Amino acid sequence: MAAALSCPVLPLASGCSVPVLGLGTSHQGGYSHDAVVHAIQNCGIRHIDTAKRYGCESLLQKAIKESGVKREDLWLTTKLWYSDYGYENTKKACLESCERLGVEYLDLFLIHWPDAQVPGRSNREVRAETWRAMEELYEKGLCRSIGVSNFLISHLEQLKEDCVITPHVDQVEYHPFQRPQELVDYCRSRDIVFEGYCPLAKGEALTHPSIVQLAKKYGRTPAQICIRWSIQNGIVTIPKSTKAERIEENCKVFDFTIAEDDVEVLNGLHDGRHVSWDPSLVV
Ligand SMILES: NC(=O)c1ccc[n+]([C@@H]2O[C@H](COP(=O)([O-])OP(=O)(O)OC[C@H]3O[C@@H](n4cnc5c(N)ncnc54)[C@H](OP(=O)(O)O)[C@@H]3O)[C@@H](O)[C@H]2O)c1
Repeated sequence: MAAALSCPVLPLASGCSVPVLGLGTSHQGGYSHDAVVHAIQNCGIRHIDTAKRYGCESLLQKAIKESGVKREDLWLTTKLWYSDYGYENTKKACLESCERLGVEYLDLFLIHWPDAQVPGRSNREVRAETWRAMEELYEKGLCRSIGVSNFLISHLEQLKEDCVITPHVDQVEYHPFQRPQELVDYCRSRDIVFEGYCPLAKGEALTHPSIVQLAKKYGRTPAQICIRWSIQNGIVTIPKSTKAERIEENCKVFDFTIAEDDVEVLNGLHDGRHVSWDPSLVV
């Protein structure tokens, strides 16, 4: 079995440290058991991102077992889907996710989406009630860290007024075309680690001429340029692939550095486009 990838970690306010590179999983584009096992066994991946919504938690249990890597050497993130929001439902859903994953605790549990969609109740009220359950799960040790996903500054400001524990992480779309710097700065000011999803813009970034040109300049692939750029910007990054060779490629990002002026070129590609969800209309 390969030694663990020498992947830097970032400290969270929870006292835990998250590997800056993780493997995404999702219901879109399929799930590959062999690719996940390969990622853990041969590429040194130790951080896996999933969600109840993706429907692959129990498949991951099998892959993790087969990999032979110990639970305590892995970082597992999963997410609470909005159909489970509310105080009691949240606690139940956490236990169910743990059961599907075959683990006794989660490294990180995230509220997936700010829109609660509960008739007759405000999103703010349901998010606060849900967060109180997350705080309890954290205090009991069932979740070593807790956070949110797709939350904008307005959602985080409301949660600040309504709850006690500041989220340890906010997981938000982040790639060269979507670089929400104001939110990144806000998170940093409150010690919330910013985790970026869709680092390849679901593949859209891989043919952009500036990215292709930088890939040639550094002797790397466009995917490696995107992932390395996110990491150099201090963003925890979770590219997804169902293909073993692409996972290997996506992990080889710790033996080169993008020069500051080229980071600026990539920073300049932001055009505000979303390839996933846009939470800006959620109150
Ligand atoms: N919190 C949220 O709301 C949220 C939303 C979206 C995503 N996420 C998380 O973020 C992860 C990543 O997002 P994502 O999958 O949507 O987008 P992504 O990582 O930007 O792109 C994935 C796509 O790029 C392809 N790909 C991967 N590596 C490649 C490479 N080296 N060369 C060429 N193509 C490559 C994959 O295809 P193949 O699989 O065929 O290789 C897939 O189609 C998800 O798995 C999930 O864990 C979270």
